[in-house]
Amino acid sequence: MSSVVDVRRDGDIAVVTIDNPPVNALGHAVRSGLHAAMRELRDDASVKAVVLAGAGRTFPAGADITEFGNPLQPPGLGEVIEQIEAMPKPVIAALHGTPLGGGFELALGCHWRVAAKGTRPGLPEVKLGILPGAGGTQRLPRLIGPVEALPIIVGGEPIPAERALQLGAIDEIAEGDVIEAAIAFARRVLAEKRPIVRVSEREDKIAAARADRSAFEAAAAEATARTRGLEAPVACAKAVGFAIDLPFAEGLKREHALFLDLVKSDQSKAQRHLFFAEREAAKVADMPKDTKPRPVVRAAVIGAGTMGGGISMCFANAGIPVTIVDATEEALQRGLGTIEKNYGISVSRGRMSADDLTARMGLISGTTDMTAVADADIIIEAVFEEMEVKRDIFGRLDRIAKPSAVLATNTSYLDVNEIARATGRPGSVLGMHFFSPANVMKLLEIVRGKATEPEVLATAIDVARKLKKVPVVVGVCFGFVGNRMLRARSLESERLLLEGASPAQVDRALTDFGFPMGPFAMIDLAGLDIGWRIRKAMGPTADGGPAPIADQLCEMGRFGQKTGRGFYIYEKGARGGTPDPEVAALIERTAADMGIVRREISDEEIVERLIYPMISEGAKILDEGIAQRPGDIDIVWVNGYGFPVRLGGPMHWADTVGLAHIRDRLRHWAQFNPALQPAPLLERLADEGRGFASLRTGRDKAA
Ligand code: 3HC
Repeated sequence: MSSVVDVRRDGDIAVVTIDNPPVNALGHAVRSGLHAAMRELRDDASVKAVVLAGAGRTFPAGADITEFGNPLQPPGLGEVIEQIEAMPKPVIAALHGTPLGGGFELALGCHWRVAAKGTRPGLPEVKLGILPGAGGTQRLPRLIGPVEALPIIVGGEPIPAERALQLGAIDEIAEGDVIEAAIAFARRVLAEKRPIVRVSEREDKIAAARADRSAFEAAAAEATARTRGLEAPVACAKAVGFAIDLPFAEGLKREHALFLDLVKSDQSKAQRHLFFAEREAAKVADMPKDTKPRPVVRAAVIGAGTMGGGISMCFANAGIPVTIVDATEEALQRGLGTIEKNYGISVSRGRMSADDLTARMGLISGTTDMTAVADADIIIEAVFEEMEVKRDIFGRLDRIAKPSAVLATNTSYLDVNEIARATGRPGSVLGMHFFSPANVMKLLEIVRGKATEPEVLATAIDVARKLKKVPVVVGVCFGFVGNRMLRARSLESERLLLEGASPAQVDRALTDFGFPMGPFAMIDLAGLDIGWRIRKAMGPTADGGPAPIADQLCEMGRFGQKTGRGFYIYEKGARGGTPDPEVAALIERTAADMGIVRREISDEEIVERLIYPMISEGAKILDEGIAQRPGDIDIVWVNGYGFPVRLGGPMHWADTVGLAHIRDRLRHWAQFNPALQPAPLLERLADEGRGFASLRTGRDKAA
């Protein structure tokens, strides 16, 4: 008997349970255990039907991703699934939790599927840069139709059990215990002498697409319209096409060949790296294992501005009541009005019901009385970036908040330790840096102060998960991980203008690289005045400065999109900006005044001079222990700043390019700007022929 596959009897029904915590991934031991169990059950005449289930929290959530880098040990998952499908007696899958990827493919190989309430099956392989490689692209279209299967396979989102039932992907939703329900189902099948249904033999659902491919083609074009250079979604659609065009066995072969190509690709390696990095980023190496988060039942947010409003929406969306405090009734009402308007947009777009809007607004209360936060378990300050204002608020919170409350600041740059010192309980203080719009953006930098207690840190991480954010624990420095690296990029982007590039060329080079927006379009959107004010308050080197062009634009009242002019001109109603000759002239004049001779700049130079300094800054961040691992930096940049997923984040991409090359190029560019000298850690790793990944302390997964 295998240690990860258990077989028990319920009369003449055998119940096979996969028990491989935490998610019953279908690694080698499970595959061989299943293979052996099925062979035995096939030959055992006393067994009339088989129920296949998962122990613990879920039916298998997929193949074991950690095995992907290595040669596959037989039996392969496809082989096990074919063996199950070929069983001469009924096999019923008892699904619960998240039957994903190979787990769902396993269920598709069974003859019927019964699911517990709340089950969310799906084929998320595309998010790992691969496709369902154990028959999923061939069986799901045969079971529910290719047009219906396409978005599930190309999009990768799991579907609720009710939808799966509607589509015919499952046969029943169990009221009570799913294994009991599957056993009862098996008995019914036997009593009614129902013929076994092998999905691979079904043709009915693909017949229409075989006769006329147009609906499928249209659906495929729509599903792959915005793939941002990712290969996997296109391959997924292609594989579903095989189900229409080819006999099952041939389609299976072609699917497998595509799978093998993708699994070896840099894109899939990058996406698998991000999968594990995201899970590691919230782990704190030196936090005692038994640290428990404090319960959070009520929250409070100080400041009803854009950030405060967005953060409050996150709490309401998670069902946590939240009190917003602002200094004036007017600001408060404006903030509450904006929240209601934002929810209203979701309702009008059909993303939310009117009842949901009422329920969420019911969780949000507003006041100008700070003492109202006395019973909050977590208080997040989101007022403007001025140390004295923040210190004053934290001093007041110290007097009002209950002793167990977590006190967080949503600062983007300021010293969390100094803010903490404004209280008599610095151990309860940390940073929770949300990204704008806070109710949409996934990233949350959790800034650990010198004194932050482990329990407080654990509570912030737990809250982040409840708010469906991707938390990354970082240390205190100017700009933390994300904005500190952005600063390295901003500094260089202004220099490129002076040396000969135009804003449009710089932006295009970065969108070609894969960013959704270039630096100048981004600053026009965010508002040039924010950085300008910081530079004026803190000296020209703050916030990406010196920025002579941005400063002059601000002096001309050109704050970006909101004033209709910034680095670009924005005509009313137009989505993007158009280049402005006035800005071009300003750049030329400034360069001449500074004695810079402008020259032709290539797109390649732009990419090197904008991204490599960020990588070098990332190396400093690692050296200083501000980020625990290179993967944490990747998660920050992919989730907060639109670094292309297919490249796996700046540090992973740096390893792909080669650190020696990056070091050499930075040395070269340092002739123009001495600040571009490579960081000592980058130098050292390059000299030793190593990559950033070699710094990882945990399992060297998914390499
Ligand atoms: N392989 C290996 N490890 C896995 C895994 C998998 N398929 N899925 C999850 N894990 C690990 C995680 O890395 C994590 O490990 P850690 O505790 O050491 O950090 C642990 O299991 C728990 O995972 P989560 O923290 O993500 O737990 P959640 O409860 O938040 O989420 C989940 C559970 C929804 C199942 C989520 O883990 C998930 O989405 N997993 C990946 C699902 C997936 O992509 N499946 C397809 C795999 S590829 C495939 O099947 C190919 C086939 O077509 C041939």
